Amino acid sequence: MATQLGGPIISTAQLKNLLFAGFCVSLLAACGSPQSSENSDAGTPRAARGEVSGPLANAAPEPLDVGPVITDPVSVASPDGRTVVRVWSEAGEPHYTVERDGVSVLANSQMGFRFAEGPNLEAGLVLTDALTNSHDESWEQPWGERRIVRDHHNELAATFTSTEFEGGQFTVRFRVFDAGIGFRFEVERGADGEAPVEITDELTEFHLASTGEAWWTPAHEFNRYEYIYSNGAVEDAANAHTPFTVRLEGGQYLAIHEAALVDYSAMSLDQRRDRVFEAELRSWSDGGKVRTTAHFTTPWRTIQIADDAPGLINGTDITLNLNEPNVLGDVSWLEPGNYVGIWWGMHLNEYTWGSGPNHGATTERTRDYIDFAAENGFVGVLVEGWNIGWDGDWFNNGEIIDFTTPYPDFDLEGLSAYAEERGVRLIGHHETSAAITNYENQMEDAFALYERMGIRAVKTGYVDDAGEVLRRDEAGHARYEWHDSQFMVGHHARVAEVAARHRVAINAHEPIKDTGLRRTYPNLMTREGVRGQEFNAWGDPPNGPSHTPTIAYTRMLAGPADFTPGIFDLTFERSDGRRGVQTTLSKQLALYVVLYSPLQMAADLIENYDDHPEMFQFIRDVPADWEESIALQGEVGEYVVQVRQDRASADWYLGAITDETPRGLSVPLDFLEDGITYTAQIYRDRADAHWLTNPYAYVVEEREVTSADVMELPLAASGGAAIRFVAP
Ligand code: NOJ
Repeated sequence: MATQLGGPIISTAQLKNLLFAGFCVSLLAACGSPQSSENSDAGTPRAARGEVSGPLANAAPEPLDVGPVITDPVSVASPDGRTVVRVWSEAGEPHYTVERDGVSVLANSQMGFRFAEGPNLEAGLVLTDALTNSHDESWEQPWGERRIVRDHHNELAATFTSTEFEGGQFTVRFRVFDAGIGFRFEVERGADGEAPVEITDELTEFHLASTGEAWWTPAHEFNRYEYIYSNGAVEDAANAHTPFTVRLEGGQYLAIHEAALVDYSAMSLDQRRDRVFEAELRSWSDGGKVRTTAHFTTPWRTIQIADDAPGLINGTDITLNLNEPNVLGDVSWLEPGNYVGIWWGMHLNEYTWGSGPNHGATTERTRDYIDFAAENGFVGVLVEGWNIGWDGDWFNNGEIIDFTTPYPDFDLEGLSAYAEERGVRLIGHHETSAAITNYENQMEDAFALYERMGIRAVKTGYVDDAGEVLRRDEAGHARYEWHDSQFMVGHHARVAEVAARHRVAINAHEPIKDTGLRRTYPNLMTREGVRGQEFNAWGDPPNGPSHTPTIAYTRMLAGPADFTPGIFDLTFERSDGRRGVQTTLSKQLALYVVLYSPLQMAADLIENYDDHPEMFQFIRDVPADWEESIALQGEVGEYVVQVRQDRASADWYLGAITDETPRGLSVPLDFLEDGITYTAQIYRDRADAHWLTNPYAYVVEEREVTSADVMELPLAASGGAAIRFVAP
C-alpha cells in the first residue's frame, strides 16, 4: 500500500523567500541536507557554482504557486534496512544520497534534464509529493541463471515540481533492494504530453562518497565494448561504460549500470569532477541525445551494493526485476543449450567467410558438424559465411549483404532437413556489417526463411567501428550512428519483435549492452559486448590471465555473454608468435560455469576435441540452463568460484578460475543438499600446470562427497577447476 511521506511543508510565499533571499545557505539549513560535500563543490547547486543559465541566474521571476512543498529530505530503506536513499530539493535542485549501514556511499548527487528547446528541468524544482510502497513477489524465468527470482523492494516516488513553468515536473521513482537500488524518472515537460522534445543532457549524477578502486572499459572508443578492463583509482576513469565496478575505500562494492534501456540512448559515465560521474547519453548523428515526447520515462539507473565481490554477482536480479514481465507469451520454443559452429576456423584464417577454395560454410563440412553435434548432445550448429555478401571488404560493404541467398556450395534446405533428422538445428547467422537499413529491409524475409528451415536461434552481428553504423534517412542519405545510440536501441527492439514472430532467439554480436530486456523479450537470449575468445586468435594483445576473472564482476553483471569458451588447441600459432589462449585446459572448462550464457559455444574446431576426450566429457555434460546460481568466493580480477544447479536434474556444477596467481582454494560444499552423497567428477589443473609452460597438465578424478565436505582446489597460474556433482 502506498504511503504519503511527510516532513515540514511550507507555503509558496515561504518558498519565495527560500529561493530568492540567499537561497543556498537558507535552504540547506531549512532542509537539513543530509550531508555536504567535503572536498569539492560537486554537491552544491549548479546555480551556486555559477553554472545555471536562465531565470535563476539572471532576473528572478516570480515562482509559480505549486502548492505545499516538502522541505525535509524524504527517505526509503531496503527491506533489510541496511541501504537508505534520501531525496530532497536544495535551492531548487533535486538531489539524492545513498547510505549503507549508516555510511555514505553516494554523496549529494544531482538530478535533472536539459532540452534542445524550451525550459529545462534543472532549477526551480521543489519537492511536492513523496509516496512510499513495498513489494515482495517471486516470478519464474523461462530460462536463466535461476528459475525463481524474488523481487523484494521498498519504493519511494518523489515528485519535483517546477516553480519556473507550468506543467513541469518529474517523479523520481527509487526501488531499494537488499542488493542495491534502481531509480528512474517519469517526466512531464509541459501539459502536452505528445509534444516532441529532444533531451540534450541528463544531469543524473553518481557522486561516489569516497575514493576506491575501479574496473571499467572506456566509452566513446572505436571498439565499442570490446576492451581489456582498466583497473585503477576511481579518479582515473574519465569515461566509462557500464556496468562500472568499484570497491570503495571502506570496502563496499558498487556496480553502476542501467536497466530496461528502451527508446532512449545508452548511458555511460563521465567523470566531471573527482568521483562525480554524470550520466552521459550517446548522441544521434545530428547531435541530439534522445528524441522523445514531453511526457517520457527514462531507463532505470542502477547501483548494486555488496559487501564482497561475489555479492555483486549474486545481486544482479535487480536488473531483471526492473524490467517489465514477458510480453511474448508462450516461449517454450526457446531452446537453451550448447552449440558448435563453423566459426573458429575463420578466426584462425584456416577458412574464409567468403567464397573460394577455403570457404568454411560448405555443405560437406556442415554435415560433419551436424554429425558431431548429434553424437555429443549439442543443440545447434552455427554456420557463418553461408550467404552472399562476404566477398571482398565485408566490413565496409554491408549494403551488399543478402540475407536469404546461400552461396552455391551451401545447401541450406538440405542441411536443415539433415539437421532435423539428426535431432539438432542449424543456428542462423546475420552479419549486417552495421548497414542497418539494408538489414531492416530484408529482416522480415530473412527470419521467415529461417523459420521455414526450423532454425530457432540466429547470431546477429554489427561489425564496424563505433559511430559508423549506417542508417539511410528518408531521402536515402547516409547517416552514421553509434552502436549504443537511441537509433540502435530501437533497431534491436525491432529485431527482437520480428524474430519472436518467427520463433527465433537472438545472440547479438557488437550489440547494445544488456540491460535485462531478456525478461520482457525472452528471445533476447545472449550477446557479445565483451572482448571475447576471438581476440585470442588475432587480438593485440590476446586476453590475459586476469581477463575472465575481471569480466565475471563487470560485463557479466549485465547479463549472459556469448564469450565462446572451450578452445582445446591452446598452442596454435599466432602470426605474432604469442600464446593466444592464455589459460590452462581446465580453465577453459571452468568458463562454462563461470560465464553464463543460455546458448554456450564449444568454440574450437571439432577435430580438436578428439585430443582430450576425457576433458571434453565435461562440455558434453554441462547444461546451459540453471535452477540456481551462487557465486561463493572471489575477488575482482583475481578469482571466482561459482556454483550452479542444473534445471533438468539435481546435479550441481562448479567452476573456479584464477588469474596469473596460482591458488589453493578451500570450498565448503554446503550448497549441496544435506544427507545426499554426490559423485564429484573433478577436472582440474595438475600440480605442474601453468598456462604458458604446461597448459595441458590436468587431472580427471572422481570422489564421493556430501554437503559437510570441504573441497580443496589447487588452481595453476591462469588455471581452473570444473566439477560436476552427480546426484544419486
Ligand atoms: C564478429 C563476431 O564477434 C564474430 O563472432 C563473428 O565471427 C564475426 N564478427 C563475423 O560475423
